[in-house]
Amino acid sequence: MSDDSTPELRAGSREPGAQGPVPRAESAAPRAESAVSRAENPVLRAEGLVKTHRGEGAPAHAVRGVDLAVRRGEFVAVTGPSGAGKSTLLHLLGGLQRPDSGSIWLDGECADAWREARWAVERRKRIGIVFQFFNLVSDLSVADNVELPALLAGVPPKRARAERTELLAELGLAGKERSMPGELSGGEQQRVALARALVNRPPLLLADEPAGSLDSKGTREVMRLLSRFHQRGQTIVLVTHDARLASAADRVISFFDGRIADDATLDGGAPPRRGGISGVLELKD
Ligand SMILES: Nc1ncnc2c1ncn2[C@@H]1O[C@H](COP(=O)(O)OP(=O)(O)OP(=O)(O)O)[C@@H](O)[C@H]1O
Ligand SMILES: [Mg+2]
Repeated sequence: MSDDSTPELRAGSREPGAQGPVPRAESAAPRAESAVSRAENPVLRAEGLVKTHRGEGAPAHAVRGVDLAVRRGEFVAVTGPSGAGKSTLLHLLGGLQRPDSGSIWLDGECADAWREARWAVERRKRIGIVFQFFNLVSDLSVADNVELPALLAGVPPKRARAERTELLAELGLAGKERSMPGELSGGEQQRVALARALVNRPPLLLADEPAGSLDSKGTREVMRLLSRFHQRGQTIVLVTHDARLASAADRVISFFDGRIADDATLDGGAPPRRGGISGVLELKD
């Protein structure tokens, strides 16, 4: 099966702004890291990320130089006005778009030379992504939507089924396995999308306005679930307009005009500090 058949890739291609790969230097070898330093690495690190969208109109300088480090187990909310570049940043971090310049590391591994196929593999295994409009495969059942990424990642069918059953029960969707996405409420569809993003137990969950199309009940559901997964150690980067969702995070990044305008720890955690030669933002040393 081609990489384009993965649900998250289809989802990505339907997102506004998603683009094909931009050729980058393929010769740059990933930087080797020892097992010890890998364990200490941030789950995600970005340095000097820049992305300008060049369409029909004037170029949109969506991301203008972002340095960011996300530690294991952090729940980071990214907020900011419409057009600030939040989705573009998330797309860069998930490899759905390529930066014009700058670097990304996943678990200490430099992703600069990764081609689309490699990013697709990482999105199956190491990065779960949830979007505002669910992006479920409409002609697959709930069960198949959730199992597909596990099967594509090479998980044996029996285990994929077991993972799916456990996750759907956890997300309050037991009994909906055979339903089609169109038969579910918005909140239920988003829970299926969460199950699909988490079925391979990715170290990192990226969520772009996951409650943006939900009513207040659906928003509460999503908030409760994100908090629950976070409490179990899930690392989450959440883009949201919703102050209630942002308040569930333990760190809030305010994004403005393509840049990080503020980076604050909530609930008395250690304040972010600038460290290293590049001024990478880090927390909880
Ligand atoms: N594919 C694209 N082509 C051209 N311009 C784009 C593209 N995608 C985004 N942009 C522009 O880049 C800027 C940042 O867009 P982005 O979607 O990242 O903002 P956002 O902060 O997520 O906004 P919102 O809160 O409305 O979702 C905007 O000016 C937008 O118009
Ligand atoms: Mg957006």
